[in-house]
Amino acid sequence: MLVKAWSGVKRTDGSTGGPPLRVLHSEPRIDWSVSGKNTMDYAEIAPIMGRLWSPIAAVTSRWQGRDNVQIAVAIAAASIVPDRPRVAVQLYKTNLSHDMVLAAGAFALNFLRPDQLDLIGDFGLVSGRDRDKLADVGKTGGELGSPLLTECFGYLDCKVVNAMDGGDMTCFLADVIAGKTLAEGEPLRWRDARSQLPPELMARWEQKQSSEIEISRATMGNINHTFWRPNK
Ligand SMILES: Cc1cc2nc3c(=O)[nH]c(=O)nc-3n(C[C@H](O)[C@H](O)[C@H](O)COP(=O)(O)O)c2cc1C
Repeated sequence: MLVKAWSGVKRTDGSTGGPPLRVLHSEPRIDWSVSGKNTMDYAEIAPIMGRLWSPIAAVTSRWQGRDNVQIAVAIAAASIVPDRPRVAVQLYKTNLSHDMVLAAGAFALNFLRPDQLDLIGDFGLVSGRDRDKLADVGKTGGELGSPLLTECFGYLDCKVVNAMDGGDMTCFLADVIAGKTLAEGEPLRWRDARSQLPPELMARWEQKQSSEIEISRATMGNINHTFWRPNK
């Protein structure tokens, strides 16, 4: 019935029959260029969006002899091939770690244990521009130099294979070249951690978060669509 109804439809590529291609590419409901804002009610999707964040990782990197670490929860598995594991990690451009990972083409993900709450503030609320966050932390070196924390739930040593510009952040696709689970149980998640953090730390996080949301709002549209090339 549907095929018959569409049989006289002429597609944009000149062919006829089947559904018109434009139904696959319906007009966008929101014109971002006019408002720059999505007017939908975020509360409608918050229970979904909030569950997309990964367990908390300390993302370590090394560039020109300097080590650094930041916290990240925007991490996803990115391969279905067991002997070719990959991850996708989003790092914000305002972070020192972003520039170090981009330059080094490597990083490690050190997932935290539930008893390592204090590292969230130490690594995620202070920048490596202001102090050496790994000075007193037990670590070894990964294959490409990224620091591997000796105390954590487990680590993934990663080599960047591609990067996508997101305006305010870069999404790094990386091969997992080595890794190990070091603890039993579950890694620490932000939704469990935040209810246990002292109010002073939560206040610092909220203040940092709201200023970063403003920076992201202003820069997320500036996407460079040129391809990423690995360093030789
Ligand atoms: C709970 C939590 C989650 C975070 N998730 C991310 C993330 O997914 N990606 C990111 O780039 N920054 C994330 N951050 C922010 C960085 O960890 C933070 O800006 C850090 O101070 C950057 O350090 P750096 O400048 O030394 O790289 C998160 C921070 C916290 C506290």
